[in-house]
Amino acid sequence: MDKLQHLLTWAERSNADWEHHLHATQSHRDTPGMRKNLSRCLGLVFFNPSLRTRTSMEVAAAHLGVHVTTIIPGSGAWQFEWRDGVVMDGKEPEHIREAIGVLSRYYDALGVRIFASGSDLTMDRNETLFRGILASAGVPVINLESAFYHPCQALGDAAMLREHFGGATRGQKLVIAWCYHPKALPLAVPHSALLMASRLGMDVTIARPEGFDLDASVMDRAGAFAEDNGGSVSISADLAAAVRGASVLYAKAWGGMRRYADADGEAIVREQHRQWRVTEELMQTMNDGIFVHCLPARRGVVVDDDVLDGHQARHLLQAEYRLHAQKAILDTLLS
Ligand code: CP
Repeated sequence: MDKLQHLLTWAERSNADWEHHLHATQSHRDTPGMRKNLSRCLGLVFFNPSLRTRTSMEVAAAHLGVHVTTIIPGSGAWQFEWRDGVVMDGKEPEHIREAIGVLSRYYDALGVRIFASGSDLTMDRNETLFRGILASAGVPVINLESAFYHPCQALGDAAMLREHFGGATRGQKLVIAWCYHPKALPLAVPHSALLMASRLGMDVTIARPEGFDLDASVMDRAGAFAEDNGGSVSISADLAAAVRGASVLYAKAWGGMRRYADADGEAIVREQHRQWRVTEELMQTMNDGIFVHCLPARRGVVVDDDVLDGHQARHLLQAEYRLHAQKAILDTLLS
């Protein structure tokens, strides 16, 4: 197993490391009362809101005897300047370089959530903001959702699917279903879902309207994972056809990359696809299938109430797995 340092995406990590964390996640799921006293300190910096990631990381740390501080820039902590070479006479009193440099001297590891810019595709594809954090960090940094990746979500999802299929994920049909949402949401979750499912050897279909493809570099990586693990990756513009006979429906909304820098143009196209919503009728066409969603999910917009409240829904179990996955990550990193 590799020594885990910064965790941006599992796609950068070896199969041995991925497998170690999958097994550790399941081990924490199977022994929920297990407690440790690692006596370490973890700083969590949230530049964007969170319910699950923040709380599950705080609880995971508590179970392992890791002290946590959650830092929200601009709300009880200074607002940070990100740009280099600027005269800092605006509203941000501290530069990100000093902020992360200082926190690195207090904590044994950091977790950072910093979403995509949503307007500069090159910057987001290069993970410029998250890598800016890494450049100033003297301790390992865990990605709590960046522009393109959400590795904590991916690990929990993968372990949950392994448990659901009794380990036999290869060849199972999983559909990542684009859903309408009033906002152009980031790509980190669909990218991470695609990478984890292809690495599990699943037959993955991305069902999306024209103009809502995932990033080509991530598609290429997923294609390689699928080839290595006996799965496949395909694309469909027909939601009903894609979901028919599937075992897993992974619903998610995301913004269109074709109009990344054109928010108004992207919104006009997105509004044409309000019918892309998960209904009970759609769920009935699956092959004994389950519904998953990373949450938060807008009821009646992304997915209907009777799906979320129905017997095929696994989104709460999926959220539970976040706790086990993050215990696995922290235990490996801080033990
Ligand atoms: N799925 C997820 O990351 O949830 P939060 O945004 O609430 O952390």
